[in-house]
Parts: sequence; C-alpha cells; structure tokens
Amino acid sequence: MPSIKNSVISNLNRQVQAMGANAIRAFDEEVSSVPNIIKLTLGEPDFNVPDHIKAAAIRSIEENDSHYAPASGSLAVRQAITDFLADRYDLTYNANHEIVVTVGATEAIYDSLATLLNPGDEVLIPTPIFSMYGPDVLLNGAKPVYLDTSANNFVLTPEQLTKAIKDSAGHAKVLILNFPSNPTGVTYDRKALTALAAIIKKTDMIVISDEIYSELTYNQKHVSMAELLPEQTLLLNGVSKSHAMTGYRIGFVAGPKRLVEKVNVVHQFATTAASNPAMAAAAEALGTPAGKVDTELMKLAYQKRRDYLYQELINLGFEIPNPDGAFYIFAKIPAKYGVDDHSFALDLAKKGKVAVIPGSIFGLGGQGYVRISYAASEIQIKAAVKRISDFLK
Ligand SMILES: Cc1ncc(COP(=O)(O)O)c(C=O)c1O
Repeated sequence: MPSIKNSVISNLNRQVQAMGANAIRAFDEEVSSVPNIIKLTLGEPDFNVPDHIKAAAIRSIEENDSHYAPASGSLAVRQAITDFLADRYDLTYNANHEIVVTVGATEAIYDSLATLLNPGDEVLIPTPIFSMYGPDVLLNGAKPVYLDTSANNFVLTPEQLTKAIKDSAGHAKVLILNFPSNPTGVTYDRKALTALAAIIKKTDMIVISDEIYSELTYNQKHVSMAELLPEQTLLLNGVSKSHAMTGYRIGFVAGPKRLVEKVNVVHQFATTAASNPAMAAAAEALGTPAGKVDTELMKLAYQKRRDYLYQELINLGFEIPNPDGAFYIFAKIPAKYGVDDHSFALDLAKKGKVAVIPGSIFGLGGQGYVRISYAASEIQIKAAVKRISDFLK
C-alpha cells in the first residue's frame, strides 16, 4: 500500500484541506449502522428507471455507440432537452449552441461556477440550501455569502437581495437559486421570481438557477427563472429527479450562447463529454411522450406520500413550510424537544430507528429543523410515521 509524506498532504489545495466529506452522506453513514433503521435521508427516488428508457441505453450499447460524443452532448439529447424546455416551461433554446450536457446537475453547478468566478468574487446563496454550492464556490477561489431566508418562509425577498448586493460593494457576481428547494420543498412563484429578476437585471450578475426538481412541483405550474431573465440566467436541470435516473449521471446547462460556449470549455476540460448510453437514455426520457407520462406518474405517487406525511407530522406537532415541490419536508422540531437538530436526529435514529437529516447541515436558518425525504416507499413512510410517533411519546 503506498503511503504519502505528511508534507505533501499538508500542502494540498488549501480549500480542499479545509473541506470534510459531504455532511449529508456522513450523517447518513453514521446512522446506517443502526439495525433495522428506516432511512428518509437521501434524495434518491425509490422508482426503477422505466423500461423504455433502459431500452434506449441498451440500444446505444448494442449499436456500438461507443465513440466520443461532441463535448456539449449528442445532438439527439440536446434536441430532446430543448423540446422538453419548450414543452414544459415555454423556453426557447437552440440545441446547437445553447445547451451543454453534463455529468449530472452536479457537474453543471461546478462548471457554471468555474466559468463565472474569479478570486475575490462573491456568490449570494439563500439558505437553508443543498450543501454542494458553497464548497464549489470555495474551490473556485470565491466567497459564498449566505442569506438566511428562514424568517420569510424560506424564500429570498427582494429587500434581502437588494441589501446583499449593496453590502457586497460590487463583489457579488452570482446569485444561486434552487427551487423547488432541497431541503425545504418550498418553491418560488412567478411574482416572487419577477421581483428578483427585476433587481438582477439592473446588475451584471448571473443567476445560476438549479431547477433539478422542476418536474416535481405539486400545486402550481413551475415557472423558470430563464423565462423571466433569459439573458442573465444559467438554467440547470437533468433527469436524476424527474425520471429517477440518479445513477445515469445526466444533467445540463442552458443559457445564452456566448456564455454557454464558455461553460462548454470548462466541461470539456473536466470530462470531455457525458457517456453515450446515458445520453441516449436521457434523450428518451426528456424527448418522448412516454417520458412525460413517467414523470407524471411518479409525481402523483410523491404527492400522495407528501400529503400523508405532511398531515401526520402536523398532527404530531411539527411546523412545516409549504412543501410545494421536490420530495422533502422541512419540519420544525416541536419546541419541547429543543432546538438541537443534530441531537434530535441522532436520538430519533438510535431510539426511534428513523433516519432524517439535521437541518443545520443546510446552513443558516436550518437549526431546529429536520429534512425528511419522501422519496421512499409508501410502506416505509407509514412505518416511519408510526415510529416517530412512538419516539415522541
Ligand atoms: C438541488 C440539487 N441540485 C443538484 C443535485 C444533483 O443532481 P445530479 O444527480 O443530477 O447531479 C441535487 C441532488 O440531490 C440537488 O438536490
């Protein structure tokens, strides 16, 4: 086994040295050793990938589709993406120049930030939020500026944005939005987005709008930031959540040609291109009527689980911001159990045998909450509710 000198390890990229492993996965691993635990921790759909999508991946392999694709992705998947965006969200993009297919939305986040940022730039990040953006900002030598939205139902207000831009004294270059939100399940409506877009329009800032959960919006039609601010938005999406295809690793970036061409340069240096069978599967998922039906069916199932879980948790005394999208409920721990969400979640795991994620992992405003994923089966969710109820007694 090779060993390495301490002096080499202590001289790594300073940002990397300071970074720990992904906190969600670390907590998940910590509680996974509890025997017979029910896990409502990860954002991992429990559905299988629909057969016609699998068949597209298999066809790609059998037809020897085994050579490097164009860096920005096969034309078939880029075309499917532009059709998808037009059909679902009234967005117009050119498949030739305005789309880059990435290895999951994860790579799309990294590439977008690497394209935009210089050392010293600031990135405005409303919290609580998915824990990937901050480290990616740091890796690019820039500074995350966190904006706690918990006092306003977990939505960034125009006043907060205006103040943050003013406070940054010209350093704020990017605003990250993620809606429907991981971890809160809260989403933005047209009015809220229009107000934010009007503020950004007056600046040279870019919005990285991570809309990976757009297809899982329950009580309203999802409106994309790219509709309201097309010239200053990099729109991120993919098939991980819409089609339960997390392991296929296909995401994408859509935006103005001159900016997306630069994102494609970063993407090319990072990965060359996504994998052909996965892109063939994503083209089938996003570009066919059957793929649209798949999502509708999954969404109905999630909605049923959400309605059940929401009502049961309310009955147990949790307060919950409007869970209008994604597959998470962000539940405020009842006051009598204190505000230490980490201890509460650990206790619930060890004594109640239900695993959820402590809210503070998602940053400012998450303290005193837990994130509960309902991407698990109905049977598991029902059993978990029973256990949570027994635990609270
Ligand atoms: C908000 C958000 N963005 C991006 C991702 C990553 O998506 P992908 O699997 O496409 O890389 C996730 C995954 O949980 C997420 O919750």
